[in-house]
Amino acid sequence: MQIKFSAEPVGDALAYFAYETDKGADFAGGLDAAGETAFRRAMSAGTFKGGAGQILEILAPEWSDAARVLLVGLGRKSAVTEVGWQKAAGALVKRLLVSGAKSLSIVGAPDRAIAANLAFGARLAAYRFDQYRLTLKADKKPTLTTVSVVTDSAAGARSDYAPLAARAEGVELARNLVSEPPNVLHPESYAERIQELAELGLEIDVLDVPAMTRLGMGSLLGVGQGSVRGSRLCVLKWLGAKDKKAAPLALIGKGVTFDTGGISLKPGPGMQDMKGDMGGSAAVVGTLMALAKRKAKANVVGLVGLVENMPDGNAQRPGDIVKAAAGKTIEILNTDAEGRLVLADVLWYAQKKFNPKAMIDLATLTGAIIISLGNEHAGMFANNDDLAKKIDAAGKAEGEPVWRLPLGPAYDKQLDSDVADMKNIGNAGNAGSIVAAQFLQRFVDDGRAWAHLDIAGTAWKPGNDNPLEPVWATGWGVRILDRLVADSYED
Ligand code: BES
Ligand code: MN
Ligand code: ZN
Repeated sequence: MQIKFSAEPVGDALAYFAYETDKGADFAGGLDAAGETAFRRAMSAGTFKGGAGQILEILAPEWSDAARVLLVGLGRKSAVTEVGWQKAAGALVKRLLVSGAKSLSIVGAPDRAIAANLAFGARLAAYRFDQYRLTLKADKKPTLTTVSVVTDSAAGARSDYAPLAARAEGVELARNLVSEPPNVLHPESYAERIQELAELGLEIDVLDVPAMTRLGMGSLLGVGQGSVRGSRLCVLKWLGAKDKKAAPLALIGKGVTFDTGGISLKPGPGMQDMKGDMGGSAAVVGTLMALAKRKAKANVVGLVGLVENMPDGNAQRPGDIVKAAAGKTIEILNTDAEGRLVLADVLWYAQKKFNPKAMIDLATLTGAIIISLGNEHAGMFANNDDLAKKIDAAGKAEGEPVWRLPLGPAYDKQLDSDVADMKNIGNAGNAGSIVAAQFLQRFVDDGRAWAHLDIAGTAWKPGNDNPLEPVWATGWGVRILDRLVADSYED
């Protein structure tokens, strides 16, 4: 999809905006009298009221050279947000993507910043994962190749769009990684793909099984020991601050490339979704790509633990006791509670190696968070109110909202074990997402600002109807994290 900014509308489809009012829809501008008359007639024949995402389309109008003219709703004028503009553009793209239209001009951006957001929304909506659909019929293939955003400050809009284009590339990478099938994307091939990002100026280090064994990472390694693929820990460094030695922000991701549950095997139905159990790592990798592409003035390190959780003759068992690199022992009571075991060693390594000023981990950690929050909010846990506020604000601004849940010693004690320093699960059916967060907190140094985002409900969304996202893998995390860095961590 090519994105352009131009002073005049061009193309075979033209789109205009409308606001919702008490009296029906109000044109936002750009249409001539003939156009308004035609749309008024069309409105009286249907249910279009200018509601957010509503579309009214007229084909082959006599009063325009365009083959189709569309009106897209923004909702109430007083309530339109940045994401609202993005979604309006996204709705147009979704409508036209396989329609036969080749080019779309969007008319009526009130300023350069909104023009840039329209472009961002159009781009996110155009994403598809079609790589393995080799015999796709012509009428299912995208036809729309160009979106032009009409603005009288094209140069300004272009420069406002540049960092958003970097953000979109990061989102697209995260979606691709989550969508890749688990026979193709496993810890070894994933680490190789991460290494390719070195060409963007990221410094990449990959720790293999012998390296992690030397560091004593028995917790992470235990999860991967049933897989024929070697586990990996990848470190991606972006040092863009003036002071390259300044303490970085650390972003940590769960990268379970497939979660069968291990010996505590998951039920068959739905197991295929567990190819997305590396969604936290994908968000981290996508964010580091975005930061490098837009040359963010911040020091940020990404650390992702890549493992495959398989049942096998060599797999770990319920009852095993492993020793994490932090020197603590863990009694494994359920091999399906593996994400926390991976993160325990990655959190330890991040702190020891980088002494980060704050640390945020993302993980498709618990099914329980889907029971609590569905697919609308990610669960947030934090030991620091300031960090929590910043994450909350970034999420609201980007349309990736989080909802904070509590931590506390009464939850933590569920993890006490009779035979080891802790066990890896608490009481069944009792605050599972919080107890998982408590487990992670046992590996966070006292006084270290830390937040954990449980994205099990947001990394992929079956039947997703958000116009900015595809039907399944959302790329959740790149927008909120890149925004957080831009707003709170740059020079
Ligand atoms: N990857 C799963 C969590 C998950 C479930 C993500 C559904 C997305 C959708 C995680 O490794 C897991 O299996 N968690 C267990 C923990 C339990 C054994 C304490 C769960 O949620 O059932
Ligand atoms: Mn699991
Ligand atoms: Zn998992």
